[in-house]
Amino acid sequence: MGKDVIIACDFKNAADTLAFLDSFSGKKPFLKIGMELFYAEGPAIVRTLKERGHKIFLDLKLHDIPNTVKKAMASLSALDVDLVNLHASGTIPMMKAALEGLLRPDGSRPLLIAVTQLTSTDQDTMERDLLIEKPIDEVVLHYAENAKQAGLDGVVCSPLESGKVHARCGKAFLTVTPGIRFSDGERGDQKRVTTPEDAKKLGSDYIVVGRPITAAQDPVAAYERCLAEFVD
Ligand code: C5P
Repeated sequence: MGKDVIIACDFKNAADTLAFLDSFSGKKPFLKIGMELFYAEGPAIVRTLKERGHKIFLDLKLHDIPNTVKKAMASLSALDVDLVNLHASGTIPMMKAALEGLLRPDGSRPLLIAVTQLTSTDQDTMERDLLIEKPIDEVVLHYAENAKQAGLDGVVCSPLESGKVHARCGKAFLTVTPGIRFSDGERGDQKRVTTPEDAKKLGSDYIVVGRPITAAQDPVAAYERCLAEFVD
C-alpha cells in the first residue's frame, strides 16, 4: 500500500458515521475506527464499511498476554480489516503472537503496527508512574526496534519522529502519523502538529486526520486538500 490519508471516524455511532460518509459519494477513503465507535456498534460497523468499499484501520490498541492477543487478533483478522495495532509495551512475545493470530488461511494478513509511548505520556509521567528513566525519545525508538524485531510492519508516531524511526528501523518500516492540522486550521487539543505537506516531507507513510476533515464545513474538500498536499 502506498502513501494515503486515513480519516479518523471518531463518531459515537453508526448513524453519525454513515451520515458523514454519504457526502463522499463515489469516493472510498481509508477509515480509522477507534474504541468509541467499535465498542458502541461492534463488528457490524466494520462489516458495513468494508461492504461499502473502504479500507479499515481498526485502532483498538491491544495489550494482554500473548495467547489472548493471538486469539483476539484472529477475530479481528476475520473481519477483513486492513490495518490493526497493539501496544509495543506488551513485549516482543506478545507482538509475535499477534502476528500469528492475524495470519489468514489464505496466507494474507492485515498490516500490524505498534503504539510506542502514547503522546499523552511525557517524561515526568513515564518516570513517576512507569519507573522508566531513559529519555522518552530513546524509549520510543527502542519500542519501534522491538516492533521491527517481532516482525511488525511499523509504528504509530508523530510525523516529527518519522525520520528517526526510518533511520533506525529502515525506510520500509511504516510510520502512521496523527497530529495533522492545516496551516490555517484549528489545533484543538493537539500540541505538536504538522501540516499534511510537512508530514510528506518528513517521510510519513500514512497520515491519520480527524477533526480537520470531520469538523470541516466541507469535509470532502478538506479530504481532497489532504490528498493534494500529502499524496499527489
Ligand atoms: O481529530 P484529530 O485529527 O486530532 O484526530 C487524530 C486521531 O488520531 C484521533 O482518533 C486520536 O485518537 C488519534 N491519535 C492521536 N495521537 C496519537 C495516537 C492516536 O491523535 N498519538
